[in-house]
Amino acid sequence: MRTMSVDDRFEDLLDALAGFYRSWLIYLGLELGLMRQLHDATSGGLTTDELAQRSGCARVPVQGWCRAAYAYNLLEANQPGSESARFSIDAELAAVLLDEERPEYLGGQFLFTVGASQDYGRMLDFFRTGEPLRQRSASFHRFVEKLNTQDIAVFFEQALPELTELRQRLQRAGAAALDVACGGGLWLLAAARTFPELRLQGLDFEPELIERAQGRLAEAGLSDRIMIEPGDPSRDLPAGPFALVYIQDILHELPEPTVVLGSAWSRVEPGGMLVVLDWCIPDDWIEYRTPFGELIWGYQLDELYQGTSLLTRSEFKRLFEKAGIGTPELLELEAGASLFLARREG
Ligand SMILES: C[S@@+](CC[C@H](N)C(=O)[O-])C[C@H]1O[C@@H](n2cnc3c(N)ncnc32)[C@H](O)[C@@H]1O
Repeated sequence: MRTMSVDDRFEDLLDALAGFYRSWLIYLGLELGLMRQLHDATSGGLTTDELAQRSGCARVPVQGWCRAAYAYNLLEANQPGSESARFSIDAELAAVLLDEERPEYLGGQFLFTVGASQDYGRMLDFFRTGEPLRQRSASFHRFVEKLNTQDIAVFFEQALPELTELRQRLQRAGAAALDVACGGGLWLLAAARTFPELRLQGLDFEPELIERAQGRLAEAGLSDRIMIEPGDPSRDLPAGPFALVYIQDILHELPEPTVVLGSAWSRVEPGGMLVVLDWCIPDDWIEYRTPFGELIWGYQLDELYQGTSLLTRSEFKRLFEKAGIGTPELLELEAGASLFLARREG
């Protein structure tokens, strides 16, 4: 392995420090709506006073944020250095940070990474005692939902095009699908829009998320087609049968994953599918020192802190086998997520 010189290490660590502040600038820009205001502004951009006024924020912090964001190449300025400079955000950056429909959407990752880290006040204690943080902050669920928004686009744009049979089955009259631990119902809404005939059901145990989901269904006029119920996926899954039982970004956190997999599989109709989308710790350490490996180990620190853990691909396969389903097929998605599939004969 090539050793890095002191100078190389110095440069590398400076990047990490800059990355920390860059992430905070993006988090503030998203959470306070500053980037949205700049994106929606007519051409020519906004002065800091206009931006502060439109975002309902104070002038001094917004002025500081604009100059810092300019320093970090997040914003452009028409007259750099002038008090009346107008700031703007370029379309490509806005697409990656604001457009939740795109598989390249990263805004959710910044909101989650910085947002969730505000729970880290007990991280030192966790290291000293091993006692994880059992209760996450109220805003944590909102950040998780923002994080998982990208996965919904990844499923519909990167996974579904590869699953012809499943697509055809979901278009059939009378077809139904189940989203296990559906959170705020965003995947269910996307599925309802993609397959206009599909009947949909969801289950989650978080009252706040169920309430948010049902509010969204009513707003979208889809309360007749999508049913969301409170419950524990290890014993309360609706009977089905379903053409698709879908589990996104949760199996690795559930106390009884094999019980949930077995129960989910029993609800799959002949010819139907059980699909699990998740992000995996690489099996091979070679993959650790990659941009993906670094990111996933960052998320793993958050998982360990709350007493859960991401899994490797081989651990997921073992879960399916232990649940009596057999070895799942594995589809690696361009975004980096993994899809584990089991098809029922039929
Ligand atoms: C990481 S989120 C994923 C939500 C959704 N599948 C998505 O991808 O947006 C985890 C979800 O699982 C739910 N959850 C966690 N443990 C659960 C359990 N034991 N029973 C039911 N739901 C659970 C949480 O309430 C939350 O909505």
